[in-house]
Amino acid sequence: MFANLTVAISRRLRAIADLVPRHSKLVDVGTDHALLPVYLSQQHTLSYAVATDISEGPYTAALQNVRAFNLERQVSVRLGPGLSTVAPGEVDTVVIAGMGGSTAVEILTESPKVMEQVELVVIQPMNASQRVRSYWRENGYVLSVEAVILEDDRYYEIMAARRLSGSEVEGRDPAYSSFLGSEDELSVALELGPTLLVKPTDTFIEFARAKLARWKSIAGELEHSRQPASTVHRNRLIRQTHWLEKWMNHHQPEDK
Ligand SMILES: C[S@@+](CC[C@H](N)C(=O)[O-])C[C@H]1O[C@@H](n2cnc3c(N)ncnc32)[C@H](O)[C@@H]1O
Repeated sequence: MFANLTVAISRRLRAIADLVPRHSKLVDVGTDHALLPVYLSQQHTLSYAVATDISEGPYTAALQNVRAFNLERQVSVRLGPGLSTVAPGEVDTVVIAGMGGSTAVEILTESPKVMEQVELVVIQPMNASQRVRSYWRENGYVLSVEAVILEDDRYYEIMAARRLSGSEVEGRDPAYSSFLGSEDELSVALELGPTLLVKPTDTFIEFARAKLARWKSIAGELEHSRQPASTVHRNRLIRQTHWLEKWMNHHQPEDK
């Protein structure tokens, strides 16, 4: 039906698409309308794609889109949770976008046989990006790209990591080497992204400013709590706030 038209995708999805290497064997987990695999297939950049979703509605929408754009031979649409629909060795690149960070980590951990043969993972978490970074750091991945983009007044974190193989697996990600001075420093790097703290973009600096305001507001809310756990959490937020304030003093957006 739309075979001659190019699918339109958002700035966020475009930024994710740009991280998928040419000739990838891609799986897009939580594909919804399969916009990402359809877009990349139309650009002729993939070997093939699996578009998979846990829910019937998005699965049906994905099937309809793939048929409408006449891409049935390039994009296989599947129904099921996480990577359970994919055979080991079938894909080398995984995209998980538009889900919480904890769900993304669960998806990676629940299919170890598939993940053994994956080279690159691209995640755009809607929250808890520190869960993804911690998991990667502790499980033999190295960050290859981090970005923050602003779309419709919302910041989106996008990150990609390469899986290390063989003897490399025991190594720590060098991206964190400047942040090992204290636990607080490391937790700021896990929350915000070590590569962006070292080489910030203007959008990242604005994102960090918003994060700082949020930490201060949460610390304020916890001030009167008598729960010991809240006090520990508040004290950590205050220490992280101090670290980030110092960082902000040295980093201003270029047009400010
Ligand atoms: C907000 S949409 C994101 C769609 C698309 N990835 C994007 O970024 O625009 C989230 C999709 O993930 C699917 N989903 C949620 N949990 C999932 C899981 N464990 N496995 C596969 N799909 C899942 C939902 O059904 C939904 O279609």
